[in-house]
Amino acid sequence: MFSRFRKDQNGNLAPVSRAVPAPHGDLPPLPEKASTPAPGSAARQRAKPKSATPAAPDKDRRRRQRILELKSEMHTRLLDNLNLAAIDAASEAELRAEIASITAEALSEASVVLNSDERMNLIQDLYFEVRGLGPLEPLLKDDTVNDILVNGPQRVFVERAGKLELSDVTFKDERHLMRIIDKIVSAVGRRVDESNPYVDARLADGSRFNAMVPPVAVDGSLVSIRKFKKEKLGIDDLVRFGAFSEEMALYLEAAVATRLNVIVSGGTGSGKTTTLNALSSFIDNSERILTIEDTAELQLQQEHVGRMESRPANVEGKGAVTQRDCLKNALRMRPDRIIVGETRGEEVIDMLQAMNTGHDGSMTTIHANSARDGVSRLENMIAMSGIEMPLRAVRSQIASAVNLIVQASRLQDGSRRMVSITEITGMEGDVISMQEVFRFERTGLQPDGKIIGHFTGCGIRSAHADRFKRWGYDLPNSIYDVIPAGGRP
Ligand SMILES: Nc1ncnc2c1ncn2[C@@H]1O[C@H](COP(=O)(O)OP(=O)(O)OP(=O)(O)O)[C@@H](O)[C@H]1O
Ligand SMILES: [Mg+2]
Repeated sequence: MFSRFRKDQNGNLAPVSRAVPAPHGDLPPLPEKASTPAPGSAARQRAKPKSATPAAPDKDRRRRQRILELKSEMHTRLLDNLNLAAIDAASEAELRAEIASITAEALSEASVVLNSDERMNLIQDLYFEVRGLGPLEPLLKDDTVNDILVNGPQRVFVERAGKLELSDVTFKDERHLMRIIDKIVSAVGRRVDESNPYVDARLADGSRFNAMVPPVAVDGSLVSIRKFKKEKLGIDDLVRFGAFSEEMALYLEAAVATRLNVIVSGGTGSGKTTTLNALSSFIDNSERILTIEDTAELQLQQEHVGRMESRPANVEGKGAVTQRDCLKNALRMRPDRIIVGETRGEEVIDMLQAMNTGHDGSMTTIHANSARDGVSRLENMIAMSGIEMPLRAVRSQIASAVNLIVQASRLQDGSRRMVSITEITGMEGDVISMQEVFRFERTGLQPDGKIIGHFTGCGIRSAHADRFKRWGYDLPNSIYDVIPAGGRP
C-alpha cells in the first residue's frame, strides 16, 4: 500500500518494515522517525535524539496540529475544486495526481513547506477522504484488525486477537465522522439522521456495518464494523488455533455429514459465524444449500448455494423483507439444507419447523451463554413471536428439531474456543434432556493472563454413534474419553 512506503536516501520509494499501515488521522511521520532527515533546518534539528532537544516535542506537536488543520482546509478545498461526478470515473493514479496538484497549490499559497513523507501522507489521507472512508480506511485495510468500534470522533477502538485496544485514529470532529457515516450508508441507498438515527449496512468489501448517530448516541456517533475476512477460518485453522480439538472436529464432521441439526450458540463476537462457516465445509457438494442472513457473511464453498439477505424497511417504512419472509420462501425453493446466519426473532418457529420437516442438517446460530441458556432463548423467541403454544409443546418441538448445540466463547485472554458440545436427547417429563459430549476444561492461568486448559470428552458416547456408523462414520469410542490435565494416560 502507498503509505507503507517512504523515501530512502536516494529519494527512491522503499518498503518500510511495518506490518500495520500508518493510521490516518494519526499524525504524519515526522523526520525524527525517518532514517534520513529531509532537507530543511527544522527537520535536521528533529533528527537528533529526543532527549537532546527537549523543546522538540512541543514543536512537533504544534507542527502536527498545523498539518491536521491543513488537512482539513485542504479537504474542503478539494471538495470545492474537484468535479465530484468526474471523480468516480477517474483512475486512482489520475485522482492522486489531481489531489497532489491541488495540494501543492494550496501549500504554496499558505507558504507551508512539508517534507516528502509529510506530503505523501497528506496526499494519501486526502485520497482516502475523497475516494475511501477517510480515517477508517487504513484500519479497514489492516488485516490484523477484526472489529472497528468508534465511540464518537476522538475514540476509535480496534479488536486484534480477541482484545480491544484504543487506536490512534481520530476524526476531526463529529461532522467529519458523520460525513464518513453518510458516505457509507448513502452508497447502499440508506439514510441516517436525527429522525432515522441508526442503520445497518454491508460495506462494498462485505464488512458488516452498524451506526447510531446523535442525539440517540449521546457522546457522538457510534459505529461498529465487523471486518470481512476474505480467507475464512476453516476447520483445520480452528483446530490449529486451539478453538477445538481433533476429536471434536471428527465428531462435528460426522454430525454435519449425517445431517444432524446444529445450533451454534455464543456471545457477541465469540466466533459463531466463523464456526458455522467452518462446519458448513462438511456438507456434501451435491446438496442444495440456501443461506439466509441479515448481513451476508457466510462463504460456503459448495457448488450449489443460494444466498439471501433480509432487508429493512425504507424511510417510508415499506419494502422490508425479513429473515422469516426469506425462510418461508426458501422452503418453496427445494433446499436440502437451510442455514440461517442468526436466529433472533419470529423466524425461529419456521426454522424449527424446517428442521423437523425434511430439511435435516440445517444450521443456525443463537446468542446465548450455554446450551441450556440457548434452549431458553429459543423458548422465549417462540413466546415473543406471538404463537400460542403450551410450554411442553414448545419444548418438544425444540427437542425434536435440534440435535446439537455447539457453544462458542471468547475467553478473558481473547482466545475463542468451543467450550462445549451438547446433544439434545429428548424430553424427560416437561424438561428437555441434554448430554454434554465434549468440553473445554480450564485448569489455570499463566502469569501473562493466558488461560491454561484442554479439551476433553465427557465419558459419554454420542447418542448418535449408531447413526454415524450407519452413514460410514465409525468413530472410535475413545474420542469420548475423559482426558486428565496431563493428557491421555
Ligand atoms: N477461533 C478463532 N480464532 C481466532 N479468531 C477467530 C476465531 N473465531 C472467530 N475469530 C474471529 O473473530 C471475529 C468474530 O467472529 P464471528 O464473526 O464468527 O463472531 P460472531 O459470534 O458471529 O459475532 P456476532 O455476535 O457479532 O455475530 C472474526 O473476525 C473472526 O475472524
Ligand atoms: Mg455472527
